[in-house]
Amino acid sequence: SDTVESLEVILEDEVTHVQIVLRYAVFEEADIITRSASVRNAGKDTIHVKKFMSTCLDFLNGSDKDLLHLPGRYGQERQVERQKILHQVSKIASGRGTSSHQQNPFVAVCDRETSEDYGGCYGMALMYSGNFLAEIELDQYDQLRVQMGINPKQFDFALAPGEKLEGPEALLTYTRKGFTGLSHIYHDFFRSNLCESKFMKETRPILINTWEAAFFDFDDKKLVEIAKCARKMGVDLMVMDDGWFGKRFDDNAGLGDWVVNEEKITCGLEKLVEQINEIGMQFGIWFEPEGVSEDSDLYRAHPDWALQIPGRPAVRSRNQLLLDLGREEVQEYLITSINRILDSANITYMKWDLNRSVTDVFSSALPADRQGEVYHRYVLGLYKVMDGIIKTHPDILFEGCSGGGGRYDPAMLVYFPQYWNSDNTKPVDNLKLHYGTSFLYPLCSTGAHISAASPEIPISTRACVAMGGTFGYELDATKLSPEELAECKEQSDRFRKYYPIIFFGDYYRLTNPFEGGNMTAWQSVTKDQEEALVSVVVTGLTVNGPQEYIRAKGLNPEWMYEIEQLGVELSGAALMHAGLPIPREIPQYTSFQYHLIHK
Ligand code: GLA
Repeated sequence: SDTVESLEVILEDEVTHVQIVLRYAVFEEADIITRSASVRNAGKDTIHVKKFMSTCLDFLNGSDKDLLHLPGRYGQERQVERQKILHQVSKIASGRGTSSHQQNPFVAVCDRETSEDYGGCYGMALMYSGNFLAEIELDQYDQLRVQMGINPKQFDFALAPGEKLEGPEALLTYTRKGFTGLSHIYHDFFRSNLCESKFMKETRPILINTWEAAFFDFDDKKLVEIAKCARKMGVDLMVMDDGWFGKRFDDNAGLGDWVVNEEKITCGLEKLVEQINEIGMQFGIWFEPEGVSEDSDLYRAHPDWALQIPGRPAVRSRNQLLLDLGREEVQEYLITSINRILDSANITYMKWDLNRSVTDVFSSALPADRQGEVYHRYVLGLYKVMDGIIKTHPDILFEGCSGGGGRYDPAMLVYFPQYWNSDNTKPVDNLKLHYGTSFLYPLCSTGAHISAASPEIPISTRACVAMGGTFGYELDATKLSPEELAECKEQSDRFRKYYPIIFFGDYYRLTNPFEGGNMTAWQSVTKDQEEALVSVVVTGLTVNGPQEYIRAKGLNPEWMYEIEQLGVELSGAALMHAGLPIPREIPQYTSFQYHLIHK
């Protein structure tokens, strides 16, 4: 569009006639430069691409720089680590076939004195959902080189004469406004330029998901009962998670058979959805398109469609294998069978899950000397299947998931306006999960639910934390008391009221939960600074401790703001420099939400 300028630099090797095209796109207003590369074999012999980086940044002096990245693990994704860059080659990478729980395809290189609010900071994020590599090298003269692209692990892509290979885009930026400035650039860019879904602009429904409520143990009657209670909680959408298809009574069977399990859904899908709709709720459904159980009709018919190394026992992570997404037959099967279900009833939401890493990287559709292409072909095949399902259903809200937040990456946000952040729904852990995730990803993309996982924490605090994301429920609503149902209703209404601030505003991390303070606080401010929401969770106030304050950010210092919950007015300057006093001698895990309104 006219807000973007692009440049292609074509390089050709005189001996082999291999061409590299370097592509730049400058999004001047957004402060983002994208960079990618493609390789074209204009020579006479087949070539093998073995290392394919999307970008390379050289710094004249990197001895005063730090590296920040988002390592994690299952249930604890995107924690934050910052380290001094030393004279060595360091790698932030995934070799698990997906962008992974363990690392995120994002690094920031910042000045040593850079803080949340001040200081220079470069960001690099890769639009790729497979194996990636960020390679950081400080050399003997203190020159720093940072490269980012596809991980060379088991990568060997053959290009015959005339063939071309395109690489993923890296999203580059620089700010002098610290990590907050960096996050604002990425949040704005992701909200306006990544995802085509209408749900980036339209208000999304509040959902309840059956997983932690029932796991595999449900039938149509149970779902209807949950939906009736959930309606009283102000919930708009009922999501039927894993277990509704094939012979799926536990995680040993059924994956790949995308037909309704009529032992559980006795009335059939269409009728079930009608019943949910009659209650006044929308209906959503779970799929794990890439997975296949050996105990499934699909596997029995097409064992060669699974990734497996001939003659060796396969790795059965979560008792399942993965389909060879690089194969066209597999892509067609998934698009047809999943679309058939989506089109068979009034379905308005789909959760797309993936519950294991990619191993046994061998495709029976490729010759032995082309197995180095399997990882990358898997990712390309995945995008093709998502194009065939997601882009053909513009009215369905799609949420991404990978055993929680295992493949939460910028390329996934092209398809998914929201992504399940973690299978860990404990609110205290989520303070860290939200903090880390927010370095790159906007709150409107972060799936967050209230669950029964931490009964010691008041439901009001669980709600406060879940409002640091898309907000929803993950519990058995039939087990809630009338008082709890009413409290949830009030929470759902409150979320709707704050929705524009949380989803479209600027986000500020007010404290760092990794530093172990007494409170974790965060804030969203509307772009026009008219309204803000300050959220505080008390995690460890000591008896008879000093008075503590939370300082707001991003307000207009000259304006007066009413603090709705306190019925008092303070200037933006007072709120930002003196701060909001947090009541003393309060129980552990009390939370506060302060709605600030310009007067
Ligand atoms: C993953 C997801 C969960 C749930 C289960 C179902 O773990 O992250 O939310 O959907 O799979 O098997």
